[in-house]
Amino acid sequence: MGPQPSRGSLRTGDSTDGEIGLVEEKFVVTPWEVTGAVDYDRLIQQFGTQPINDQLAERLEKKLGAAAYLVRRRVFFSHRDLDLLLDEHSKGKGFFLYTGRGPSGPMHIGHIIQFYLTKYLQDTFGATVYIQITDDEKFLEEKRNLTYEDTQRWAEDNILDIAAVGFDPNRTFIFQDTKFIGHAYPMVLKIARRVNFSLAKSVFGFTGETNIGFSFYPAIQILPTFFEKRRCLIPSAMDQDPYWRIQRDIAKSMGYYKAAAIHSKFMPPLTGTKGKMSSSKPETAIYLSDDDRTVRNKINRYAFSGGQATMEEHRKKGGELDIDVAFQWLYMFFEPDDEKLADIVGAYTSGYMLTGDMKAILIQKLIAFLGEHRRLREKARGKVHEYEKDGTLAQDMWKRDFSKS
Ligand code: TYM
Repeated sequence: MGPQPSRGSLRTGDSTDGEIGLVEEKFVVTPWEVTGAVDYDRLIQQFGTQPINDQLAERLEKKLGAAAYLVRRRVFFSHRDLDLLLDEHSKGKGFFLYTGRGPSGPMHIGHIIQFYLTKYLQDTFGATVYIQITDDEKFLEEKRNLTYEDTQRWAEDNILDIAAVGFDPNRTFIFQDTKFIGHAYPMVLKIARRVNFSLAKSVFGFTGETNIGFSFYPAIQILPTFFEKRRCLIPSAMDQDPYWRIQRDIAKSMGYYKAAAIHSKFMPPLTGTKGKMSSSKPETAIYLSDDDRTVRNKINRYAFSGGQATMEEHRKKGGELDIDVAFQWLYMFFEPDDEKLADIVGAYTSGYMLTGDMKAILIQKLIAFLGEHRRLREKARGKVHEYEKDGTLAQDMWKRDFSKS
């Protein structure tokens, strides 16, 4: 049996609202599970993070250029110490970026958002970027049933997708845990000694059934936050936040900065707005490897629609944007232009635009995005060695003596 979510993860529900007996909907967010309709305001409260308020959003938007819409629309909606990091930056202190991927299968379009934001931040601030590929985590996560060889294959495949995003080869280090962690082991030990089992249990919900590799793993995901003696900024969806909570507990005693984080919402699965896309359920996601035909079929067949049951009703009442997955995907990533998005909103809610039209817009955007991604992925094949070994940052990392960190 896998870990049971508890403190750091959030299980809500079972509460009744007085006489009417309304049952709140359950949702679960842990690094390994996202189910139900996530209430993001409650998640901020439960995880103890901060909402990105208007003032902070404006500050960031000014710097982000083409990616500003991701913050303006609050796709990235929560943070830890991002305001502090920007204050420090304005006084001339640098920071570094860290993000990652667990290679459990093909990457989908939700994953890639994190890497695009990270790339925009690198371009804007000239920061170094560390990208962790957690083949160890995915092997140890028993419910996935992956062989060691599976994780190696997916790591190689996923690294190409990430390299396609176009990070600076001399300021970016992509590392696969099973290859690199041995080199950094002395520092992993310094982290592991500071995290006792009851803390790990309460944050991650580990039980007596959890294999000991998995209960050690958090030390490995925390490691990159200590790669530099500067503050680290971590873009990810909200599910990864429990690690940063532990990092912030131990950072001072390690002689390092508490990590800052910027959190996104989950791009919803095609099949409805609850939970998140899954690498193992093809009908819930568009993978970066899907061809044009697959994209058309999946969107037309599975994309949950906010349209009304009949055409007459739709023309009269209009479509519902909140539950329309095609619209949500356009909003979250694929239509950066606010004016075009406003036109879509107007046309759909007035009943002028039909579900089929909304899906057609998304299909066109997806096909264009994935076509370009395929081209960049092929081009990136020749660059992977720089990210992993030969670029300036990669060389420094392989030379570093971690017993002295
Ligand atoms: P993984 O592979 O589950 O996810 C990779 C990144 O994608 C985010 N994510 C999503 N974002 C938007 N919509 C979704 N539906 C969605 N699903 C997943 C995740 O939050 C993550 O940012 N343990 C990690 C690997 C890792 C890592 C890190 C991630 C190691 N170090 C540092 C972020 C930052 C994992 O398995 O991610």
